[in-house]
Amino acid sequence: MLAMWCSVSWATVTVNDEPLVAGLSWSFYDVSCPSVEGIVRWHVTEALRRDIGIAAGVIRLFFHDCFPQGCDASVLLSGGKSEQKELPNLSLRPAALKLIEDIRASVHRECGPRVSCADIITLAARDSVVASGGPFFDVPLGRLDGFSPASAAQVNTLPAPFLDVPALTEAFKNRSLDAADLVALSGAHTVGLGHCSSFSDRLPPNADDKTMDPAFRAKLAAKCAKDTDGGNTVTQVLDVRTPDAFDNKYYFDLIAKQGLFKSDQGLIDHPSTKRMATRFALNQAAFFDQFARSMVKMSQMDVLTAGNAGEIRRNCAMPNNQLVLSSSSPSSSQNDA
Ligand code: HEM
Repeated sequence: MLAMWCSVSWATVTVNDEPLVAGLSWSFYDVSCPSVEGIVRWHVTEALRRDIGIAAGVIRLFFHDCFPQGCDASVLLSGGKSEQKELPNLSLRPAALKLIEDIRASVHRECGPRVSCADIITLAARDSVVASGGPFFDVPLGRLDGFSPASAAQVNTLPAPFLDVPALTEAFKNRSLDAADLVALSGAHTVGLGHCSSFSDRLPPNADDKTMDPAFRAKLAAKCAKDTDGGNTVTQVLDVRTPDAFDNKYYFDLIAKQGLFKSDQGLIDHPSTKRMATRFALNQAAFFDQFARSMVKMSQMDVLTAGNAGEIRRNCAMPNNQLVLSSSSPSSSQNDA
């Protein structure tokens, strides 16, 4: 297990000076489940050994959980009104969803049902960053899981790739995230993939986007021309320089006009974000520092804690009251903790 974990060079960002919302703590499971961080790390490392792309899948899952209604693992709920049926979530990786439930089962076997799915997503996202070469940072814990999914309208507040910087800034501001959070968190696009449908608005015949390197655009246009399913089969790495490594090369891509989405490329072109995006291209430590702080900030958005309504789900895909109903039916699968 430690091979991959040890092969990455750790940059540690100290975030414990960041303010915490009531109910979260840096040492939440120290007594009730001291092995939780080790178990999560073990599972993440094993999963990434099989498929490094799962790291990107988990990091994005964390964002898509937190942004619509807070970090409450609502994105994992299945069923009729599942967030997973909304457009921004259609390309979430099933392997990332499965990994979180596998980790939950393992943690609950060890400690009993004491750790929430929301905390497991948070830890797994942090560990995915580290295992890909990014910074280590502590994350505050103590979230509870929500009872119900976010509405379609809330899920669709997730920013679209064709937004410009003012619209992105507004979307982030509505969730109490600022321009520094926008520029740093977009740096998560240093890993992972996008489908042609997410950037074809920038390609001919739809557009002749002057903010894109012409050779890069021609390559993407040729690639996406082969897509037979409305832009949903062919994929392109988000960071052309180091697609699987969590580093600051994404910002180099932007300087070279090789950002994939309009939302990425705009960061280096717009006066309100250019300075910071350029700084991150020149100084990886500065990027890592702000990224870690912004992740910790995002991880605290609208969290449910012991003081308000939430629960520790026994299966990340359904609220406990539904689990009781489904496990009393003969065809149901058994919950293993
Ligand atoms: C700033 C606004 C953002 C926009 C417009 C945006 C948009 C997108 C889109 C369209 C995709 C590709 C979907 C597809 O075609 O399959 C994607 C992938 C991804 N996004 Fe974002 N995103 C944003 C912010 C973030 C943030 C804040 C994070 C995490 C901190 C994040 C992490 C990722 C990752 C890791 C992937 C790759 C996923 C994979 O390979 O499975 N994104 N994003």
